[in-house]
Amino acid sequence: MKIEFAEASPIDIFCDALIIGISDTNKVPNYLSATIDKQLIATISDIVLDQANCCKYGETTVIQPVSGIGSKRILLLGLGKRDRLNMDKLRSLVAIGVRAAQKLGSRTITTMVFEESISLEKTVQATVEGAILGSYQFNYYKTDKKKYEVEKLIIASKKLVDKQKIEQIIAYSKIVGDSVNFARDLVNHPASYMTPTQIARHAMEISHKTGMEVRILEREDFVEHGMNAMLAVSKGSDEPPKMIVLKYIGNISNNEFIAFVGKGITFDSGGISLKPSANMEAMKGDMAGGAAVLGAMQAIGHIKPKINILAVIPCTENMPSGRALKPGDIVTSMSRKTIEIISTDAEGRLVLADAITYARELGASKVVDIATLTGACVVALGNVTSGIVSNNDELCREVLQAAQQTGEKMWELPSFEEYREQIKSSIADMKNSGGRMAGAITAGLFIGQFADDLPWVHIDIAGTSDTDKTSGYNTKGATGAGVRTLVQLAENISNHDC
Ligand code: BES
Ligand code: MN
Ligand code: ZN
Repeated sequence: MKIEFAEASPIDIFCDALIIGISDTNKVPNYLSATIDKQLIATISDIVLDQANCCKYGETTVIQPVSGIGSKRILLLGLGKRDRLNMDKLRSLVAIGVRAAQKLGSRTITTMVFEESISLEKTVQATVEGAILGSYQFNYYKTDKKKYEVEKLIIASKKLVDKQKIEQIIAYSKIVGDSVNFARDLVNHPASYMTPTQIARHAMEISHKTGMEVRILEREDFVEHGMNAMLAVSKGSDEPPKMIVLKYIGNISNNEFIAFVGKGITFDSGGISLKPSANMEAMKGDMAGGAAVLGAMQAIGHIKPKINILAVIPCTENMPSGRALKPGDIVTSMSRKTIEIISTDAEGRLVLADAITYARELGASKVVDIATLTGACVVALGNVTSGIVSNNDELCREVLQAAQQTGEKMWELPSFEEYREQIKSSIADMKNSGGRMAGAITAGLFIGQFADDLPWVHIDIAGTSDTDKTSGYNTKGATGAGVRTLVQLAENISNHDC
């Protein structure tokens, strides 16, 4: 989607649809009177009076051609209560408006969704992200694509603005939006296509396009490094596993690296601890953490914040076979800590254990991991909020702040020492399942053992990485959860480090 800023009145722009936001407090908003003509205001006022509902949050009303207007049609977009509006709601509203326009077959859209309560900068960012995320469609596998695709979005305002600044924000937001959609694609593709090999190919492509270093470790390398937890999970699969490493250097005057570690299980059957078949198809998305890291790295490679990042993505299938890991087995991880396998379905924490140990070996001084780790997290927080477990208040605050800035909802779970009792083993250093109680916490604490003394934050996106219904800027299927928070975190660290 092409996105442009026009220093012009929105009514003068030739396009297929003009989206005008209407909040319910003062009906036709004041700012409109400065930009659009009296006749149009009268027309809109009539409609607003006639259809009280059209101001309701997310309501769209189409006005057929009005003379003297460049657009073929006007789409009124209800913004709801003006004092409840914020940047994230605006992002969702623009998504709803753009989708409605897209459904009508509009290829070029002009937006006029400004409210005085939100700065122009934030409005532009929310508009660009909302439009890109909300118009996302995954139709690679549809033979009849019926592609209603928005080709161009024009953000128009006659207000005096710093055009260069606005264009910078558009470019930034477009990179972020496209990277979220890239992560969504990775997750939406079926497991037999989006294999570890395929994900590694995407990582190499990012490396070529952005100049960051890439390294792909294969099974032989796992053996050499003693990555036995990674080997244990992958040995039941015929698909070659990969440990993907990307190294981004944006601050040469600093030798600190933050590690972004993403779970990349391209299909989680459960292994010998086989999952029930109902909904097992959703387990093609068990690499959403890895996709979030890759999406974030793509954005970061273009935005170039002043920070150093190591991305580590352990990729493998989790399959049952005659060579598969068995419950009761004991695995010596790369860190030399031993793990008693209770369930082969608790595989994410195993591959993350070796990935984090490897990140430490490569020089990471902080770790943020992101994973579709536990069903327990979905039970606790539903599809709304990602769960956080951490050993460091400062890094945790930074992640939560970044999340809040992007509108991605995250919440810290308690991580009191007492919970660690549940993953103690009588014959090894720890076991890979702590049972049903507090499952999201014990899984997190298991991973934390491998971060050891490094500041570490774990993000469980099992509930938030996909959705069964389109709503706001999330479309049915993969959401790309985590991408925007990781990019914002990198941006924030970059800003306060120089
Ligand atoms: N990938 C699953 C977690 C999951 C569940 C993600 C639902 C998305 C939606 C993970 O590997 C898993 O199987 N976890 C087990 C852990 C248990 C065996 C300790 C779980 O949550 O049941
Ligand atoms: Mn599993
Ligand atoms: Zn899994």
